[in-house]
Amino acid sequence: MKIAKSTVIITGAGSGIGRALALEFARNGANVVCCGRRKALLDETAALIGQEGGVGLAAPADITDREQVRHLVDTAVASFGTVDILFNNAGSFRSIAALHETDPEAWWQDVTVNLYGAMLATREVLPHMLRRNQGIIISMDGGRPAGGTGYACGKAALMEMTRLLARELKMLESSVMVFSAGPGLVHTEMTELQANTEAGRKWIPSTKESIEAGKTRRPEDIAMATMQLIRHARPEWSGKGYSSDTDFSRF
Ligand SMILES: NC(=O)c1ccc[n+]([C@@H]2O[C@H](COP(=O)([O-])OP(=O)(O)OC[C@H]3O[C@@H](n4cnc5c(N)ncnc54)[C@H](OP(=O)(O)O)[C@@H]3O)[C@@H](O)[C@H]2O)c1
Repeated sequence: MKIAKSTVIITGAGSGIGRALALEFARNGANVVCCGRRKALLDETAALIGQEGGVGLAAPADITDREQVRHLVDTAVASFGTVDILFNNAGSFRSIAALHETDPEAWWQDVTVNLYGAMLATREVLPHMLRRNQGIIISMDGGRPAGGTGYACGKAALMEMTRLLARELKMLESSVMVFSAGPGLVHTEMTELQANTEAGRKWIPSTKESIEAGKTRRPEDIAMATMQLIRHARPEWSGKGYSSDTDFSRF
């Protein structure tokens, strides 16, 4: 798919990997709709895009709220005509604890953002994509660490949703494609919580170790791999996962 002049919604675009994705899409000429809850961060992302001569729109929304997600997609369509690409990047990893000690609300929030939020956004953009028989939806995968069962269950289920959605779309004879992305370990707000809390260091010690050893990926790595994927995407690839290291000539 051509990225220039396409319209992309990126959830979690105010920080970390989402901001890197937003900037990379904009550099490639896309209209970028930046979603997240904290408006000030989205404004910063949109301003950074503007400084580079790109088109970025701050569109605050909580992806776990159906009305807000509907409004987000309506805003994208009203501003740019349609939605070509959705990147379900927003994620939550607040619950770090043994299952019997975890706060059920925080656990459920992790499942809800990672799974239900991505489902709501996907569900809302699909009619626009199906109508034009064109579109790409990418959902961000994540690790499955012990001590992070809410996060891991949300991501595992999101990956199953991605695989099944690819099958649904094939059965509907649609050209809309779905993928999952694995960014590797990236130093962001999310991994900062793992490195700088007692629970994080206890349950996921590898995060702090990797950060200190400089063994992390740059958020730009998965952003650049995403540009490659979208440029070369073929219907028979739908349902697959890619990472920063994927060689798309052998995908
Ligand atoms: N960093 C890593 O090593 C790593 C590894 C594997 C996968 N990932 C995945 O990569 C994605 C990006 O994470 P990150 O590392 O860049 O961490 P991050 O900076 O904490 O990004 C998470 C983003 O999600 C947004 N978000 C959270 N809940 C939301 C909600 N209810 N509605 C809308 N937006 C919401 C946050 O914005 P607001 O708080 O403003 O809403 C934030 O911008 C996540 O899916 C994560 O699971 C990260």
